[in-house]
Amino acid sequence: MKIVAVLYSGGEIAKRTPTLLGSAENALGLREFLAGKGHEFIVLTDKEAELDKHLPSTDIIITTPFWPAYLTKERISQAPNLKLILTAGIGSDHIDLGAAATRKITVAEITGSNVVSVAEQVVMHILALVRNYIPAYKQVLEGRWDIAEIAARAHDLEDKVVGILGMGRIGQRVCERLKPFNVKMLYYDQFPLRTVEEHVLGARFASKEQLVEQSDVITINTPLTPETDGMFDRNLIFRMKKGAYLVNTARGKIVDTTALVEALEVGHLAGYAGDVWYPQPAAKDHPWRHMPNHAMVPHYSGTTLEAQARYSNGIRDCLSRFLENRPLEQQYLIVDDGKVVSASYSYAFKT
Ligand code: NAI
Repeated sequence: MKIVAVLYSGGEIAKRTPTLLGSAENALGLREFLAGKGHEFIVLTDKEAELDKHLPSTDIIITTPFWPAYLTKERISQAPNLKLILTAGIGSDHIDLGAAATRKITVAEITGSNVVSVAEQVVMHILALVRNYIPAYKQVLEGRWDIAEIAARAHDLEDKVVGILGMGRIGQRVCERLKPFNVKMLYYDQFPLRTVEEHVLGARFASKEQLVEQSDVITINTPLTPETDGMFDRNLIFRMKKGAYLVNTARGKIVDTTALVEALEVGHLAGYAGDVWYPQPAAKDHPWRHMPNHAMVPHYSGTTLEAQARYSNGIRDCLSRFLENRPLEQQYLIVDDGKVVSASYSYAFKT
């Protein structure tokens, strides 16, 4: 079989850091494993022209949300042998799932592999915004000491209302981590939790509108689907409380690019943080790089060294099973046998 992996270039850092498994240099630790089985394994960093060249003869494509190869309907149609698409990480929105289902291509991601990594990052982003950390840190670098300037926008998180949009694996872990901060937590999900689960997590179900209008801080933790694409449009952003904060580690496209900039510029939102952009990598002039009161970083929350080890193992497991004609682990499957089977995506992509 011909297997193509599209990964970011890690350069010299990757060469001296073998545990940076998600880089092209270290190729998810798969080189020896696949060579030993006699398969052709190509690793690309170019996710456009180079990838297109290989499409006609490729059986399996491995991609990652951190350096997404956008597998559009057109690209999928140029790959007649394609049988399996694997996402090294979580979130397969860079793949046209409907087109994959129509072609009976299996799509799988490594469910659960980086949920702790992201939940920790969400808490960090919330604290960075609420405590006004970034401007304070900048003062230190600039050789300044102006307490008033920082303290006038610094708050305690305690007693604030935190809204969790999408109460899946990451949303629940965010809840667990925020509970000791003594916040009031609301959540909205297409599938509400059972009462006992709500009790354990300390979160109360609210409609999307209630959550948006009542929260001091909102964290988005849903996948990107046709329903969530652009969900935080101008209307929803301006329905948020004046002075609220928005954290998005889910996907950049869930938030309207220009409406967000406007809300920060006019002071309707007090801050925005996250690691996800659209498209990725973000252009040098992406407006979110320069909007006021943001704490944005490149997409890395789900690719800590520990997460890379977990999703590399998951990819190896999927490949072993597929190449030996054994079924993939059910929890990893997004598209199987011509249907979108993931509960998180299923109502969004009717095939
Ligand atoms: P999950 O599948 O466990 O949870 C997602 C939750 O969102 C589910 O409970 C689902 O019912 C809910 N949901 C889906 N559509 C919805 C809608 N329209 N309205 C309300 N709720 C909806 O997924 P998990 O592991 O929690 O990951 C969530 C997302 O986080 C991923 O799909 C991915 O986009 C993003 N992610 C980002 C990472 C990063 O590095 N920044 C790493 C891992 C995931």
